[in-house]
Amino acid sequence: MLKRTVATAEAPVNIALIKYWGKRDQYLNLPTNSSLSITLDSEEAPGVAVLKTRTTVTLVGSGEDAFFLNERKCDLGGRLLRVLAYIRSVRTLGPLRIESVNYFPTSAGLASSAAAYAALVTAINALLEPPLSAQEKSVAARLGSGSACRSLHEGFVQWEMGSDVGGFDSVSTTLFGAEHWSELRCLVVILSDRPKEVPSAEGMQRTVMTSTLYPMRLKAVPCRLAELTRAIGARDFGAFAELVMRDSNQFHAVCLDSFPPISYLTDRSHEIIRAVHALNGGACGAIAAYTFDAGPNAFVLCERQNLGRVEAILKSIAPASSILQCRLGKGPRVMQ
Ligand code: PMV
Repeated sequence: MLKRTVATAEAPVNIALIKYWGKRDQYLNLPTNSSLSITLDSEEAPGVAVLKTRTTVTLVGSGEDAFFLNERKCDLGGRLLRVLAYIRSVRTLGPLRIESVNYFPTSAGLASSAAAYAALVTAINALLEPPLSAQEKSVAARLGSGSACRSLHEGFVQWEMGSDVGGFDSVSTTLFGAEHWSELRCLVVILSDRPKEVPSAEGMQRTVMTSTLYPMRLKAVPCRLAELTRAIGARDFGAFAELVMRDSNQFHAVCLDSFPPISYLTDRSHEIIRAVHALNGGACGAIAAYTFDAGPNAFVLCERQNLGRVEAILKSIAPASSILQCRLGKGPRVMQ
């Protein structure tokens, strides 16, 4: 049964603090390790890009599904078809007109696909009666983009790798809500809005197939994830910062160890890494932490009381207009 014929939803990006890199099933997007992210909520200001996607789905009654991205008609790619096929395997859903607007540069290592699939699943879910279960929503978003299942939730989110071959236990949940660490901030430094040279799906499989360091990363992740969960629980910024930076560095190390090598960071990214370590070198312990996804753009975390100092350093490296300030976000919302 259907509740209504049109629904709009917005979903935010998330940034992984423990990265997902490698699939044990490429069709189902099942990961080789569990990951942990924060859902972001970017400050809205006129003319400033906000890191989210807004999607409207309309039941058109007859004909075929159609997809529009930023008002341009696009092909329904394999990933979108997979999501729709899954939802139609568990609920009745007629043909749809899907209209998405991305409020940030696409494919630039800013997790645009995570926001896109989380918004799509949330909007479609608003049409369904009964709605999808939490597990079904997680599966649907994951089929579009693995990391999208984390954008469905607020605050600190863990995506459990699971062991089921069908992936039914590979789902995401909130570990700690957005209010748990309300002083935490993330400065997103957009150094490039160009599409990444190696898409993540291709990059991660190259790493799985060719990197000799990669098995060591897989062994290290469970312990790091447990330690990070403890540090977040205790709001221990020093421990948190070291674990987050080590995981980002290890992810980029296995990329470089892939053959041919994959290198997402630029000189500017490395400048930010050096500046954060220089800042943390002082007597008062770590005050900032960086993490980078599959792109050169930096995500620099700090607590609110240190925001001014951290922002000043980033502004000496990148133009102020390229720095977005975020806090922990509440996750997707249905608009109408
Ligand atoms: O979900 P995908 O296929 O876009 O892959 C995401 C990979 C990283 O962003 C690099 C890490 C992560 O966990 O989000």
